Amino acid sequence: MKVGVIGAGLMGSGIAQVAAAAGHAVILTDIALDRAEKGRRAIEAQLERQVGKGTLERGAADAILARIEPAGATEPLAEAEIVIEAATESEALKQQLLSGLVLREEALLATNTSSISITWLQSLTRRPDRFLGLHFFNPVPVMQLVEIIPGLATSAATVAEAEAFVGSLGKTAIRAADSPAFIVNRVLCPMLNEAIFALGEGVGTVEDIDRGLKLGANHPMGPLALADFVGLDTLHAIMLVMQKATGDPKYRPAPLLTKYVEAGWYGRKSGRGFYDYSGDRPVPTR
Ligand code: CAA
Ligand code: NAD
Repeated sequence: MKVGVIGAGLMGSGIAQVAAAAGHAVILTDIALDRAEKGRRAIEAQLERQVGKGTLERGAADAILARIEPAGATEPLAEAEIVIEAATESEALKQQLLSGLVLREEALLATNTSSISITWLQSLTRRPDRFLGLHFFNPVPVMQLVEIIPGLATSAATVAEAEAFVGSLGKTAIRAADSPAFIVNRVLCPMLNEAIFALGEGVGTVEDIDRGLKLGANHPMGPLALADFVGLDTLHAIMLVMQKATGDPKYRPAPLLTKYVEAGWYGRKSGRGFYDYSGDRPVPTR
């Protein structure tokens, strides 16, 4: 299949990588060509790591990369049979992007949003029945799950095609209702936010909070390290969507999370969050 991916950040580049690894031809777009190329370089570095470890053959890595074509505009997506939107988590940005998108009449259009209403997003598109949520997890090449979220207007045929696509990637799908943040983030993101409340209130240090959840709950990563990994801007945007959509103050972002986002400390992707990533190993910043 020809797969289009919009947004070449953490998630878009991961989705492009797994689609290309499954044999699909991929058009990877972003707001400018250099950003799309940066996303492709991140994929190249990831594949190089695998080649270095001996878990991927050089020829296979080259073939995966050769199937990914970067682009700085959405026009080349007119050739795609399935397009996955993975741009920044912002209602305004997704609204502008989706309402202006011109695709093949029969193309399937999916969003990787973490929290925003699928039914609202599909109402902005030309073919609401061909639209749904396909929610991948970070890091995409490693995480097994994809949530499939039909909106009110999504057709049964669209869901079936999406399931087949997820299967072609070797991932496991679960079905979630179109409720704010769906299943996994509904549970996970308030937990990450709560860890930031605890840090802000001085309940523990960054190291102790993370060590606590790793050793006391067997989480692979502590919640503050995971928040940095997800992106503090993304976590903040998710909490705001949950708060606005439900009207429930329990979802309000932790004040310290808001401050970090105001400072531009977005976590791993900006080099600083609850850890400093400028050296060989992450160092707690508080
Ligand atoms: N991209 C691709 N592959 C990666 C990777 C990345 N960023 N990071 C690690 N890997 C791969 C490694 O190459 C390695 O592969 P091999 O076994 O083939 O060698 C494997 O993952 C394990 O990596 P490491 O040994 O380096 O590290 P680890 O064992 O500590 O695992 C981890 C790293 C997989 C990230 C693990 O810590 C983990 O599972 N963390 C939790 C991740 C999580 O919860 N993700 C969900 C976030 S929420 C979300 O995505 C939804 C949302 O909308 C916000
Ligand atoms: P990111 O900040 O790493 O990347 C976002 C990319 O979108 C950037 O490269 C940016 O240049 C690009 N972009 C912005 N405006 C654009 C436009 N108009 N057209 C095309 N590209 C544009 O963010 P991310 O973590 O990759 O998140 C992307 C989406 O995936 C969000 O909806 C997010 O909620 C969701 N998501 C994130 C995670 C996570 O753990 N980070 C997990 C699952 C889903």
